[in-house]
Formats: sequence, C-alpha cells, structure tokens
Amino acid sequence: MKAMVVTKYGHFPLRLMEMSTPEVGEYEILAEIHAASINPIDFKIRNGKVKMLIKYNMPLILGNDFSGIVLKVGAKVTRFKVGDAIYGRPRKTKIGTLAEFISIHEDDIALKPKNLSFEEAASIPLVGLTSYQALHDILQLQKGQKVLIHAGAGGVGTFAIQLAKLMGATVATTASEAGMNLVKSLGADEIINYKTEQFEKRLANVDAVLDTLGGNILEKSFEVIKDGGKIVSISGMPNARFAKDYGLGTFKTLLLSAVSHKLTTLEKKHHAQYTYLFMKPSGDQLRILTNFIESGNIKPVIDSVYSFHDAQKAMEHAEAGRAKGKIIVKIR
Ligand SMILES: NC(=O)c1ccc[n+]([C@@H]2O[C@H](COP(=O)([O-])OP(=O)(O)OC[C@H]3O[C@@H](n4cnc5c(N)ncnc54)[C@H](OP(=O)(O)O)[C@@H]3O)[C@@H](O)[C@H]2O)c1
Repeated sequence: MKAMVVTKYGHFPLRLMEMSTPEVGEYEILAEIHAASINPIDFKIRNGKVKMLIKYNMPLILGNDFSGIVLKVGAKVTRFKVGDAIYGRPRKTKIGTLAEFISIHEDDIALKPKNLSFEEAASIPLVGLTSYQALHDILQLQKGQKVLIHAGAGGVGTFAIQLAKLMGATVATTASEAGMNLVKSLGADEIINYKTEQFEKRLANVDAVLDTLGGNILEKSFEVIKDGGKIVSISGMPNARFAKDYGLGTFKTLLLSAVSHKLTTLEKKHHAQYTYLFMKPSGDQLRILTNFIESGNIKPVIDSVYSFHDAQKAMEHAEAGRAKGKIIVKIR
C-alpha cells in the first residue's frame, strides 16, 4: 500500500513509500482509509519530541486519526462488520493513518457520524477525544461554571468551545483578530485578542482552564483560576502524578517531578489542581461524540483539505501554527 513515511527522526519531509498492508489481529479490523487529519503530534513525533513517552521504529507511517470503511474483521471482533463507515484514533503503538489502509483495534473506533462526509469525520477523533477527556473527565465541568480555553481557533479549541457550551459552561477564549469571528460563531462568550490584551489582566476567578499552549501561558493561567479550581494542559510539562499514572518508572518520574517543580509550586500557591493530559483512544467516548454531532450540537471545523500527494504541504501548513480548525488529507 502507499503511505506517507518518515525514515528517521528529525525535520525531514514525508516520503511517499510502498509499505506492506497491515495484518489484522483477532480483535482488529482492516480499514480502507478515506481521509486523515493532521495534528501537531505528527510533527512532534517526527521531530522525536515525544520519545520520552513512546519510541517508534523506522520507517514510520505518520498520522493519528482517520475515517474510512471496514474491509476485513478479525475473528474476535464483535462490534463491526465489513462495509461499516468508521472513524477513530489508533492507540499509540498502532499509528499510521496517512496511508491507504490501517489495522486497528475495535475498541479504538466508532461508526462515523451519518451526517458527516469522510473528510469532516476525519477531523474529529483526536481533538474530540482530547476535548472530552479534558473538559469531562478531568475538569468535570459543571453547568454554570466558567472555563478559559486557550487558542480557541485551533483544532482542539474549536471542538472544546462547542463541547464546553454543550456542557452548559460560560466560555472565555483567546484568539487573534483572524480567529475572532470563528470562535464567536462557535459560542465563545468572552474573546480575548491575545495579540493586544493580556488574558491574566482581564479574567479572574475562573473555575477551570484548558491550556493548549504550555510555557508562560500555562504559568499565567494560575493567576486567573479561583481557589480550588482546575487546570488541565495538553502542551505543558507533565508532572510526577502523570508519570506515575502513565507507568513511566522511577527515573522518569523523578525527572518530571524536577522539571515540573514550578507548576507544583504554583498549584500550592493558588490552591489549584494541575493535570497534564496525554489523550487516549476510546471508541466508547467517540460514540458519545457521534451523538453530539448527529444531533447537530457539535460541528466539524475544517481549515483546508489537501490531496494525499500533498500530505507534506498539509504538514507544513499545520506546523505554521495558524490553522483555523482542522487540516485534512483526502486519501481516497
Ligand atoms: N497532550 C495531548 O494529548 C494533546 C492532544 C491534542 C493536542 N495537543 C497539543 O495541543 C496543542 C494545540 O493543538 P491544536 O491541534 O489545537 O493546534 P493547532 O490547530 O495547530 O492550533 C493553531 C491555532 O492556535 C492559535 N494560537 C497560536 N498561538 C496562540 C496564542 N498564543 N494564543 C491564542 N491562540 C493561539 C492560532 O491562532 P492565530 O493563527 O490566530 O494566532 C491557530 O488558530 C498542540 O501543541 C498539540 O500538540 C496535545
């Protein structure tokens, strides 16, 4: 099969290569991929930035979510049959959606929302699950609470704003002039132009923060959180709690404890709870998102669609960091 591949870690372009079609395990299905989305994790993996969490063998097919059609089912698969239209985010050991086919565990997929095209459906799994795990599982956002979502115009932000509104929260978000109308149309209640205003001067006493940017922005987020509030970051520094939960072993736990020391100090100072999230695949949670999408409560936000041959251009576009919603690669 044809696939977009990297052959070594580093800032190298994707190469279109002939790879063998994957075998199908007994709990797996083989899918014909119709569309995939680009996520920043793709170039972080390519650059070797997530080696601490997972090391890949080369050559590696990139791509972390997709939509497609079931071609084959393993002997013990119970939920899917040949011909089903599906979407999903493979587990970290089984990535590779910038390809014609993928074998994937049945627990990591769900039926594609009926009201979405394949390109639209491919925009959902990684950012949708991330938003759900951040807002529902970790922040446990309640009706009437106020949440700050950083980078509201990005892939995660555009989904998270819609989900937070659906959960009954008031949403404050940061965006530049170029993203203002988009985040407003998604339901954001308070929009802070991060180029001209400092969010930490404008906001106070928010119940929860979803940080997508890390660094200084994560640290300043502690200034706006109320006593007992919660901050979840998907781009900040993982801490010792994360290392333990993720089973990273003693050495990495101590290392992360040391490098996240400043965040631990801020947690204590502001009586807030800080969690680093590394999202997980989940067909069950995708089924929940499918309901939100089919009932019209959440809509995909697509920045642009590239052909399979132009996957490298799609990567470069995503890497520039200016996307408004998701960048899609149409594979078939
Ligand atoms: N840990 C996990 O499990 C996990 C899961 C998903 C994503 N992530 C990470 O989360 C981050 C966001 O992902 P994404 O897919 O949403 O990225 P993305 O789609 O590439 O985000 C691009 C958007 O960010 C906005 N932006 C950039 N700098 C900003 C700032 N200082 N303030 C406000 N907005 C800003 C840009 O708006 P302008 O162009 O208008 O500036 C653009 O619309 C990435 O680092 C990704 O790796 C982690």
